[in-house]
Amino acid sequence: MTWKYPLSDIDLGREEEQAVLSVLRTRWLSTGPVTERFEKAFSEFLGGGELIAVSSGTAALHLALSSLGLKEGDEVILPSLTFVATANAVLYHRAKPVFADIRGQEDLNISPDEIERKMTRKTKAILVMHYGGYPCNMAAILRHARSHGIPVVEDAAHAPGSVYRGRKCGTIGALGCFSFFSNKNLVTGEGGLVFTRDKTLAERVRTLRSHGMRALSWDKYRGHLSSYDVETLGYNYRTTEIQSALGCIQLKKLERNNQKRKGLVGVYREELRESPGVLIPFFRFNGDYSHHLFPILVKGGNGRPSNDLRDQLMVQLRDRGVQTSIHYPPVHLFSLYRKLFGYRSGMLPVTEEVSQGILTLPLHPRMGKADAAWIAREVKEIVGRWS
Ligand SMILES: Cc1ncc(COP(=O)(O)O)c(C=O)c1O
Repeated sequence: MTWKYPLSDIDLGREEEQAVLSVLRTRWLSTGPVTERFEKAFSEFLGGGELIAVSSGTAALHLALSSLGLKEGDEVILPSLTFVATANAVLYHRAKPVFADIRGQEDLNISPDEIERKMTRKTKAILVMHYGGYPCNMAAILRHARSHGIPVVEDAAHAPGSVYRGRKCGTIGALGCFSFFSNKNLVTGEGGLVFTRDKTLAERVRTLRSHGMRALSWDKYRGHLSSYDVETLGYNYRTTEIQSALGCIQLKKLERNNQKRKGLVGVYREELRESPGVLIPFFRFNGDYSHHLFPILVKGGNGRPSNDLRDQLMVQLRDRGVQTSIHYPPVHLFSLYRKLFGYRSGMLPVTEEVSQGILTLPLHPRMGKADAAWIAREVKEIVGRWS
């Protein structure tokens, strides 16, 4: 189906085409000098620190947790209202994901109080996710983390360019993980980055990225190395020069496109603010954010999120050519997680209630303000018929 209003779209043009072509002409395609340039540029964008480019956001999360020495029996506290990759990165270590509830309907991020409540002697890390690019309450989370001596890892897949109290999301905890998957604010097809200021952690991530070797194939290719040693079991999570070339161009567009998204969110908020039956999460978040997603909460006559009405709205918008999505079905209720840990409904009441009524509307830099206004009016018209 071709959508009149797709959920997301990407800003790719001649600059990206040229950059990819110039990589092809160098005849070196795996991690190399262009990737180093991308890492450096992203580090400057974040205000300094070590950056390691990898093959996906999932790989970034995997390596970030590995660098902390996570192992079987350890626990990691994280939200359930996230993409499954956040939690899978914990499972890769045979560690236990301990899900904490979100703050509420107006702030869908992990609750610092819940984190504190879920802390045990086995807790090895706190893994937060900045939903839609709206920052978690990092001050409170870091306070709890420090008092227990536990590192915080940020899943900043939604949040490149988001700022929390003057600091970029992804640079506030011990490690930050970014994704450049095809629908993200900065797109390379597949790709990710790990950020850290800690040189030891950075060295571990860099080594694990390429089979536990300190040297890259690039070093061998350019003749700097004839042999190598393997110190730990690593992976092939290297990225390619093609992706990094795209990343360099996309990074230059990021702030402008985040601003565009902000403008569109402003239109949505204005149009929908008084619509009965619709609550706009993060309405009071007015800083510099990536605005990766625009979620609304569809409510029934009893004022509670309604699964039935949300699904009806989704179908009616689809019939008008508007693509929507659900971010997210709670991870703890997926069959795999129920089977492995005995998780069940009722464990995370706020997350579960919100996920019943949550709906994501289209938001991307190729949309105009008139598009957002049209979609919002359609939402109002459909929802208005129910009240
Ligand atoms: C919150 C979140 N975490 C992690 C990921 C995983 O990133 P990737 O798809 O690049 O592996 C995604 C991306 O889809 C995501 O949305």
